[in-house]
Amino acid sequence: MSHYSNLTSIITGGASGIGLATAQLLHQRGARVAIVDVKTDKGAEALASLGNSDNRAIFLPANLALPEEADRVVAETVAAFGRLNAVVNSAGIQRYGNAEQTSLELWNEVMEVNLTSAFLISRAAIPHLRQHGGGSIVHVGSVQSHVSQRGAMAYVTSKHALLGLTRSMAVDYSAERIRVNCVCPGTVDTPMFRWTMSLDPNPNSVLESCKAMHPIGRIAQPAEIAEVIAFLLSDAASFVTGTAIDVDGGVLALVGGAPTTN
Ligand SMILES: NC(=O)c1ccc[n+]([C@@H]2O[C@H](COP(=O)([O-])OP(=O)(O)OC[C@H]3O[C@@H](n4cnc5c(N)ncnc54)[C@H](O)[C@@H]3O)[C@@H](O)[C@H]2O)c1
Repeated sequence: MSHYSNLTSIITGGASGIGLATAQLLHQRGARVAIVDVKTDKGAEALASLGNSDNRAIFLPANLALPEEADRVVAETVAAFGRLNAVVNSAGIQRYGNAEQTSLELWNEVMEVNLTSAFLISRAAIPHLRQHGGGSIVHVGSVQSHVSQRGAMAYVTSKHALLGLTRSMAVDYSAERIRVNCVCPGTVDTPMFRWTMSLDPNPNSVLESCKAMHPIGRIAQPAEIAEVIAFLLSDAASFVTGTAIDVDGGVLALVGGAPTTN
């Protein structure tokens, strides 16, 4: 088995999209994986997709918008595997609206799932990472941790805040060999993106414009994000902490204004 066999991980949002691809990759490389998700059917399917003949994976249903759930799922992961040294916070929701269109209820919903759950899961996990002699936490941000789509204020704010969470936790826990990083994907072909497409009267135009927006000429597959998350969790990233890695097909490198040459 690869060096991933020393990883015992918890993956929030692990039933779908980027979280699922990460669970599959880590499990395939020998890690123990706890999938945490609010969607029970999808969670069961995700678990089944791993094969899991040697019981290196579990599914823990949880609504991470509820603050008390973080302690429970971390405790259940440790109860199942005896330890924890890797955390991926991929649970997230997309909601739309500018400042005037954003109710306090919607704002709170987005913050609870996208930001507060990452804090609470990390806080519950840290004592176990410490006990293990260190570990790695990856928050799933977005290119919208750096820049803003129109009309997505709560989402954009939550994703920007994950950078603060990343840097602050990295600074506070590096001496204990706990690394904290953020992965910032461009557009990824997941159920979340397909839902966004479906809000448009012409879904295919959303897909085409997203492809064109990325200099690489297409959107990402979830597995391409999972590879970078897996790197950050591994000992290969032993000197990487407090940073954000953009996995964005070049979208943040692009500025308009010149004629198209290819
Ligand atoms: N798809 C993209 O283009 C894209 C781009 C940049 C960043 N992201 C981020 O990547 C992460 C994963 O997104 P995805 O595209 O894989 O989406 P997805 O919808 O496929 O997966 C997200 C998962 O989070 C789970 N989840 C949502 N609310 C939850 C809650 N309250 N408790 C527990 N689980 C909950 C969902 O059930 C789902 O399984 C998100 O944080 C998202 O913001 C996605």
